[in-house]
Amino acid sequence: MSKKNKTACITGAGNGIGRAISIAMGNEGYNIVCADINSDHANETLDIIKKNNGLGIVIKTDVTNFLDIKKMVSNTIESFGSIDVLVNNAGVTRTSGIMDLTEEDWHWIHNVNAKGTFFCLQETARQMIKQKNGGRIINMASVGGKGFVDVSNAIYAASKGAVISLTKTAAQELGKYEITVNAICPGITHTNILSNIIKKRSLEQNKTESEIIKHYVRDIPLGRANEPEDIAAMVIFLSSEGAKNISGQSYNIDGGLIPS
Ligand SMILES: NC(=O)c1ccc[n+]([C@@H]2O[C@H](COP(=O)([O-])OP(=O)(O)OC[C@H]3O[C@@H](n4cnc5c(N)ncnc54)[C@H](O)[C@@H]3O)[C@@H](O)[C@H]2O)c1
Repeated sequence: MSKKNKTACITGAGNGIGRAISIAMGNEGYNIVCADINSDHANETLDIIKKNNGLGIVIKTDVTNFLDIKKMVSNTIESFGSIDVLVNNAGVTRTSGIMDLTEEDWHWIHNVNAKGTFFCLQETARQMIKQKNGGRIINMASVGGKGFVDVSNAIYAASKGAVISLTKTAAQELGKYEITVNAICPGITHTNILSNIIKKRSLEQNKTESEIIKHYVRDIPLGRANEPEDIAAMVIFLSSEGAKNISGQSYNIDGGLIPS
């Protein structure tokens, strides 16, 4: 049994922000379900959790596939008996201007970011309601969903706007079950998503990658991009006892980049 005897399921746990969240929650004593479409990467995350004396499992999950989502929740219950925190973190993007984006981009980005978030929330909330012990759902949005355009694209921004909106409505509907629903809107964060964007912009603009990074960081009042651990710290707080009366909110973690 873990210290907390509580279980957190993190989608997109195989890399970047999801990996940092999984490790931080593991260190807090949660049983961790590392759910990712890439089970090799999710297993690497689990290895780190185990090295830190944590407990967890990997469930290979494509969040665009409803049967996978059902399996993610049922296997979590078989292994740990409850699901207390869901972090809807899996997300994708492609860096392009409006004129270059395609219908395929629309379907891919919305299927993972918006549809995946909704159905993971729905299936998990069903289980949390059955448990009669409340729960915490944390959705990964983005400052892109609030109009910041520098590293996002219009389709990605719309998908993250959908996540922010879903967070507000789900919070209202699920409050009576003591389930809180909040979103985090990271600004620029050092992960693979950012490295890919920087590489692409560096080629397009014929600038070095460090010049591109300087350009992004220039307007951040606190003077740096996020590390994935900055986002994990907020997840720990929103899962904590101290946050039990906070719901329907979308918190920017962006070094002060955008004011609301
Ligand atoms: N990095 C940033 O600057 C930044 C900024 C704002 C918001 N975000 C958001 O944070 C979240 C995590 O991003 P990241 O930067 O860590 O990305 P990342 O690419 O490093 O990791 C994303 C993870 O999601 C997994 N994934 C992709 N498609 C999936 C699917 N269909 N089903 C299950 N898992 C899937 C990938 O395998 C990967 O492990 C995303 O929702 C992203 O939109 C990131």
